[in-house]
Amino acid sequence: MKLVLIGSPGAGKGTQAKVLSKHFDIAHISTGDLLREETSQKTELGLKIIDIMNSGELVSDEIVETLLANRVKRDDCKKGFILDGYPRNVKQAENLPSIVGEIEKVVLISVEDDLIVERMVGRRGCPKCGQMYHIKYNPPKEDGVCGVCGEALVQRKDDNEETVKNRLSVYHKSTAPIIDYYKNKGLLLEISGVGDIDEISKQLIDALEGAR
Ligand code: AP5
Ligand code: MG
Repeated sequence: MKLVLIGSPGAGKGTQAKVLSKHFDIAHISTGDLLREETSQKTELGLKIIDIMNSGELVSDEIVETLLANRVKRDDCKKGFILDGYPRNVKQAENLPSIVGEIEKVVLISVEDDLIVERMVGRRGCPKCGQMYHIKYNPPKEDGVCGVCGEALVQRKDDNEETVKNRLSVYHKSTAPIIDYYKNKGLLLEISGVGDIDEISKQLIDALEGAR
């Protein structure tokens, strides 16, 4: 199963991709996570892209395509994968089949812009196991501590109000056009990303099981 998850920053792509990856036993590939791995390890590539990521602009197509092409070669992708945050513009969507083969379904998680800043500014994540929290909507049991592995939670550098607003504008300008691109191909499923996280997971799983 090869899936694409699209949605604005903070729509819940990462949160839901983790659930779908477990349910369908397929790999979860977040290009944002792959890029953040490079910046946190301060690789040559990481140092080149850090300012772009912190400003909320898109990294070049060439860089993300190379990272993705290497990632899908790994064994955990044999049964399929969910792409979270890729493609991000029409050019990436057009090139995608040549990198990973044909996509079966594209799921759009839609959330209106008004809700996004609060979601982003309140997000916390575990740097060790990747578990995601929200200080209000999905808080850890103990303040600032990962409930899965006990590590101290961190906040992403691009999760401040100014950068989130730019990420939203980049989304509308560059990424939203891929919604029509996939609609025209008959691949698009749309799910509301507003409401209870578990309820949204259930709707996503039902919709994808039904589409199989
Ligand atoms: P990326 O890491 O992909 O960031 P993004 O698209 O901005 O999306 P987020 O990860 O911020 O949000 P999400 O939808 O995963 O939401 P989450 O589940 O965490 O990309 C970062 C950067 O990398 C880009 O800006 C760009 O520079 C670069 N990049 C990445 N891919 C690229 C590409 N293909 N090409 C070029 N550049 C690329 O949820 C958010 C919060 O809300 C959490 O706290 C969560 O707990 C909470 N939440 C989730 N669901 C709900 C709910 N139903 N109700 C209430 N709260 C909820
Ligand atoms: Mg994410």
